[in-house]
Amino acid sequence: MEQVKIMLSEKELPQRWYNIQPDLPAPLAPPIHPGTHKPLTPEDLAPIFPMELIKQEVTMEPWVEIPDEVLRLYRLWRPTPLCRAYRLEEALGTPARIYYKDESVSPPGSHKPNTAVAQAYYNKQEGVKRLCTETGAGQWGSALALGCCLFGLDCTVYMVRVSYEQKPYRKLLMQSWGATVHPSPTNLTQAGRSILAKDPDSTGSLGMAISEAVEDAASSEDAKYSLGSVLNHVLLHQTVVGLEAKEQLRIAGEQPDVITGCVGGGSNYAGLCFPFVKDKLDGRDIDIIACEPTACPTLTRGAYRYDFGDTAQLTPLLKMYTLGHSFVPPPIHAGGLRYHGDAPLMCLLVNQNVIEARAYHQNTVFDAALTFARTEGKLCAPETAHCIKAAIDEALKCKETGEEKCILIAYSGHGFFDLAAYEQYFANELEDYEYPQQSIEEAMKTIPVVDESPGE
Ligand SMILES: Cc1ncc(COP(=O)(O)O)c(C=O)c1O
Repeated sequence: MEQVKIMLSEKELPQRWYNIQPDLPAPLAPPIHPGTHKPLTPEDLAPIFPMELIKQEVTMEPWVEIPDEVLRLYRLWRPTPLCRAYRLEEALGTPARIYYKDESVSPPGSHKPNTAVAQAYYNKQEGVKRLCTETGAGQWGSALALGCCLFGLDCTVYMVRVSYEQKPYRKLLMQSWGATVHPSPTNLTQAGRSILAKDPDSTGSLGMAISEAVEDAASSEDAKYSLGSVLNHVLLHQTVVGLEAKEQLRIAGEQPDVITGCVGGGSNYAGLCFPFVKDKLDGRDIDIIACEPTACPTLTRGAYRYDFGDTAQLTPLLKMYTLGHSFVPPPIHAGGLRYHGDAPLMCLLVNQNVIEARAYHQNTVFDAALTFARTEGKLCAPETAHCIKAAIDEALKCKETGEEKCILIAYSGHGFFDLAAYEQYFANELEDYEYPQQSIEEAMKTIPVVDESPGE
């Protein structure tokens, strides 16, 4: 009989996270202090992050133990299933075998709580009482709301205004787990007030919401800041996904030839692909494809430079592909893919040609989501739809060449809170949008110039 789901038992849950840093093909450029332009010290980060996460940010240990309390909470939804998409394969008429690692089964419906519960745990350990964060699509805000709820912490979420208005149900989910949610920009922070002074109707951006959350945390005695993507420790926590998938594929007698995932800040895809990146660096031939929207083409058209993580220039400078910290995204629906930068670890691997980046227009992406929903039954998040599109393209290539490849998809979340986007798609109201080159060039002029010569 066809086995659709490959499950692991609770006992088989990975006990350690995989740290890619010692295996990188080139050294990772250090984060830089926004004022001095010198590499950051742990003390610089201490006002906003707990020490254990700061250590994880720079550790060169290849494995990091997952604390027992985090493992206990992971068991609420982990291990997640690895599913074989037989019906999609049949519909495409492809000889490829398609698998997807289903992170949509978590309580908030995505991969995000894999790091949220870990971050809440380390903050609780160090006596923090409240966490502040930003959220775009609302997936990260709801994951952190859950993490804080499970550890008895307060949670303040700055939600990009356009998403707050488009997705009232995400806000209610966060409130159900006890979080306080503000539409950003607000007049509660200096950063928010100065944005509103220039543009009272600002629809917000992740960069703006980050500025507000960082300012709130840095100016409160017992609060810290929590980021849902981009940073090394976040990607580290997400590797539980890839480690499980690797074991599940081993049980199925498979090794992936192609892996696709969507990239907003890089966390879900890094989580799935990093354990396989290690295999590629060790010589296995794997196409690792990172997918993003043409409306926010960070990896495909951004510059590989140091830039701020936020609009108000409060965060450290990170070396990454960037569209410029002043980027205000067009309001396309894949809210989680609207960030101007990406994880430095992911960017380095793209820069070293280990990971390939592709950008897609949103209508083709929704076509792919519907093909998936009408074969596999599951309605994915618009973010996830980007890598379903790439997987379908790859499977159709196999149909032409007759190659029997194994394709693995990072199924990062469900789309039940994104039905307004599907409604627009059905009404032919979704616009395909190519981010203008001129806007990228203008934004580049506002990026600080950092001397990257050796010895810096
Ligand atoms: C379902 C889903 N997938 C992907 C992303 C993109 O984030 P990341 O690249 O950090 O995984 C988001 C972000 O909100 C998301 O909600």
